[in-house]
Amino acid sequence: MARILIGVSGGIAAYKSIELARLATQAGHGVRVLVTANAERFVGAATFEGITGAPVLRGEFDPDPARGAYPGDPTPEHAPISHLALAERADAMVVAPASVNTLAKLAAGFCDSMLTTSFLTTRAPRIVAPAMNGRMWEADATQANTATLRERGVTILEPAEGALASRGERGRGRMQEPTEILAAIEAALASAPPREPAPEPLPLAGVRVLITAGGTREAIDPVRFIGNRSSGRMGIALAIAAAARGAEVTLIAANVTLPVPPGIERVEVTSAAELATAAGSAFENCDVLLMAAAVADFRPTGAAGDKLAREGSGGLELHLEETEDVLAGLGVRRRPGQVLVGFAAEHGGDFVGRARGKLERKGIDAIVVNDVSDAAIGFESEENEVTIVEREGELLVPRADKAVVAEAILDRVEALRS
Ligand code: CTP
Repeated sequence: MARILIGVSGGIAAYKSIELARLATQAGHGVRVLVTANAERFVGAATFEGITGAPVLRGEFDPDPARGAYPGDPTPEHAPISHLALAERADAMVVAPASVNTLAKLAAGFCDSMLTTSFLTTRAPRIVAPAMNGRMWEADATQANTATLRERGVTILEPAEGALASRGERGRGRMQEPTEILAAIEAALASAPPREPAPEPLPLAGVRVLITAGGTREAIDPVRFIGNRSSGRMGIALAIAAAARGAEVTLIAANVTLPVPPGIERVEVTSAAELATAAGSAFENCDVLLMAAAVADFRPTGAAGDKLAREGSGGLELHLEETEDVLAGLGVRRRPGQVLVGFAAEHGGDFVGRARGKLERKGIDAIVVNDVSDAAIGFESEENEVTIVEREGELLVPRADKAVVAEAILDRVEALRS
């Protein structure tokens, strides 16, 4: 069954479009109705709404309570971005009646109502059923407008000869009967080329992904810090790949100098404590956490307020205290449905076994581990080779560009979510 958009403009014949909406609905089509201000002088929106079971729209700025859905369609979760959603989804659009004024607007390409705007933009077959006084129909301008529309592939259902609305007046101007208009719609639907199938929704559409990237810095004094060599490349590759899969991405970046493309929310942090605060507040609202940041395990106890001077110091001894394990803390707070992925850089030996131990301790679903004893991969490199360790099983992702590794990780995230 088809989605039919009926535009009703001002004229006595508007009462017949109620019957058209009824017949089309009865035939099993999903019908939406657009009215001009003058149409409502003749017929009420409530009648169309009762018949079609869908709201009637007027102005091009009016929000659509049905979010662009036709009767029979599921109501979308979000309001469409475009006010042209109805025109885009229509399988056929008919303007019945088309008054002399609306006909002129359609031919000239006006966009001053939802009706005219939809007519201009729809790619569906368009049918126009004029209705007007005979002299208006025969006027040069009207004939020229009709010819213009025909040239553009619009089907014009010529008005019939007979009694006109004005008492005692006869002539050519009567709108075609609703059954004939519906037959014209059905014929247009039958001969229209099949619509391209709607694109598949992106696999992470609407999924909120929180990513940490980079390496934290722990202050020794106002100018010195203890840091690590993480560049943030892996986290940024993940952010770009997740956004391309439709996710809403928040990136908590610890001392990352690399840019991120627009559309990704970026939160800057410096220390492990700042990262803990930022991740703690964003975690509740995320569906997936990818903890790629290299978070310091230790920080100097009480950073000096002033720059430490070498002169007369006789050397410097630092006392380091443990930082909070951010990921383990979030693992305790996790709610059902969230997917948590950690990252570990391990130095040789049974690095997979050690990563598995961390997965258990931190209460997460997967941990992506790389062996940093291999200098060609890891921290500042464009490439990486990782093993994705999950509660059940593990997957080796052979050495590849970090963008490719990011895709492999997201494939596993999608699998863990399903
Ligand atoms: N991590 C964290 N908070 C920390 C340290 C690490 O959230 N203070 C996270 C990292 O972002 C990473 C995971 O925990 O996703 C594993 O990091 P790693 O440093 O390997 O873990 P540790 O528990 O610190 O293990 P190790 O004793 O080997 O340092």
